Amino acid sequence: MKVLAIESSCDETAAAVVCDAENPEHRILSNVVKSQIEIHAKYGGVVPEIAARNHVEVIDIVIQEALDQAGETLKSVDVVAATAGPGLIGGLLVGTITAKMVAMLNKKPFMAINHLEGHLLTPRLCYDVDFPHLLLLASGGHCFFAEIFGVGKYEILGQTLDDAAGEAFDKVAKMLGLEYPGGPAIEKVALKGDESRFRYTIPMQRRAGCDVSFSGIKTASRSHISKIEILSDQDKADLAASFQRTVIEHLTNKLWRAYQMSKSKPRNFILAGGVAANQALRSAIMKICDREGINFFAPPLGLCSDNAAMIGWVAIERLKAGFPPSPLTAKTRPRWPITEITI
Ligand code: KG4
Ligand code: ZN
Repeated sequence: MKVLAIESSCDETAAAVVCDAENPEHRILSNVVKSQIEIHAKYGGVVPEIAARNHVEVIDIVIQEALDQAGETLKSVDVVAATAGPGLIGGLLVGTITAKMVAMLNKKPFMAINHLEGHLLTPRLCYDVDFPHLLLLASGGHCFFAEIFGVGKYEILGQTLDDAAGEAFDKVAKMLGLEYPGGPAIEKVALKGDESRFRYTIPMQRRAGCDVSFSGIKTASRSHISKIEILSDQDKADLAASFQRTVIEHLTNKLWRAYQMSKSKPRNFILAGGVAANQALRSAIMKICDREGINFFAPPLGLCSDNAAMIGWVAIERLKAGFPPSPLTAKTRPRWPITEITI
C-alpha cells in the first residue's frame, strides 16, 4: 500500500510517499518539507494568512517533488491522505482541498488525518514497537501524556493547563531576543550557560495527577530578564539553561506520575512532537527509562517536527486496523482533540 500524504497545518508545506513495508527503513519513499520559517521569523511567530498564501504557492511543487523522489505518480499511489486538523484553518484547507481533488480525479480513497495522531504514531513508522505505549507529546501547540493501547485507542492521562511546551520555548526565546522557532535557539545557547544561575520553582509539585503548566516558568523568566539592564550573551545562555532545566524537570516529574497512573504499565515510552528534538530532554527521559528498565523511543530528529510522512503512516495504520477511508465531505477542523478520534 502506497500513500501520498500532505501536511499543511502550520508553517511547513509537506508531501510524502510512504508504504507499508515490513522493514521500517523501507517505509518512507520520499519526505519533502518546505519550511516557511524564514518568512515568519521576522514576525516572531507564524502569521496564519501569510502561511496559507505560501502553502497555495508551493503545494503543487512539493507534491510533484515527493512523487518524483519516490518514483511514483498520482495514478500509481493507492491512497491520498491529508492533515485535516487541528491547526491553522487556511493551511489545512489548502492541504485537504488539494488531497480531495487529487483523490477524486484519480479515483483513490481519501483519508482525513488528525495531526496529533501523526506525531504519536511516528515512532511506529520508524521502529518495530508494539502497543501499549506511554507517550509524551510536546509540540508548539500541544502538550499531553497519553496511554496508547492501539490504533485509535488513546487515553489522555494529563495535559497542559495553559501553554504547550514548545510555545513556552518560543515565548522565552522571544524575550531573550533569540530567533524563531525558539526551541532550537534556546537549546543551542543553553549549551554555554549555567543552569543553576537563575532560580525557578518547579510548577505544581504538590498537585496530584500529571497535568503540566508553563505560565509560572514564563513569568519567572520575564521577571529574571527585567532585573538585568542590558542582557549579555552569557546572561542569555544562563537564563536559557536555567529555563530549559526547569521545563525538563517539570516534564520528567510528571512523566513518572503519568507512568504510575497508567493502567497497562507499558514497557515502551515514546517522546513525540517538535520538542522531542531537544537532546537534553531526551537524555533526561532516557535516564529514567534506563533506571526503570523501560524502552525509550523518540523519532529521528527530522521526523520530530511537522512532516507528511507521519500523516501517510497514520493512513496506513488506520486502514490496516480496519478503519474506513474518509468521505470527500470530511470536515477540515481547526480544533480536533485526540479524544474525538479515540474509540
Ligand atoms: O511539532 P511541531 O513541529 O509543530 C507543532 O505541531 O506545533 O513543534 C514545533 C515546536 C516549536 O514550538 C519549537 O520551538 C519546538 O517544537 N522545538 C523545540 C526544539 N525543536 C523544536 N523545543 C525545544 N528544543 C528543541 N530542540
Ligand atoms: Zn506538529
